[in-house]
Amino acid sequence: MQYTWSDIKQHIASCTHCPLSLSRQRPVMGRGDYKADIMLIAEAPGAQEDQQGIPFVGRSGEILDSLLKDCGLSRDEIYITNILKCHPPGNRDPKEEEKEACFPYLKYETFLLRPRIIVCLGRVAAQRIISPDFKITREHGAWTERKHCLMTATYHPSAILRDPSKYEIVKKDFCEIARKRAEMMPGQLVV
Ligand code: URA
Repeated sequence: MQYTWSDIKQHIASCTHCPLSLSRQRPVMGRGDYKADIMLIAEAPGAQEDQQGIPFVGRSGEILDSLLKDCGLSRDEIYITNILKCHPPGNRDPKEEEKEACFPYLKYETFLLRPRIIVCLGRVAAQRIISPDFKITREHGAWTERKHCLMTATYHPSAILRDPSKYEIVKKDFCEIARKRAEMMPGQLVV
């Protein structure tokens, strides 16, 4: 059976596959352009995302918007989602069983979107998507190709909140992502 975006949204809205469904306020489905070439995958919704049911609406979201803008990108032309669709209390790392329970949703999102570029934001996403031993400090900005999809990872915007000197490093990674997209899809603007 072929799921649609609306099917996935409904499944996520009523999901009880792990105990986070008992503590969440609202599940947070991915958002953005359903025809985007670029898919950003982060870790899990924070407290503000949990309140609003929308990814990256808190302080990390402000940083993300600024990074995108600096590289000539915007949320309207990308798709942003998380490994977990529900907020882990206290922003703790997602548990293995939570990641496993939630993974089918990410698979369906990826299947429907068919992105040309996947960008993992932070260690948790990079280790789940690219490689279990991925080291973000050493390997951020590196590219790998899988099933005709280019993949890379950079620091999570919350790392910039803790250490503002990382902004320029992440900006460089984002600008390279914009350049890669322009290279793959001539006609896209690069700043
Ligand atoms: N941090 C994340 O990893 N995801 C969000 O949606 C917000 C903050």
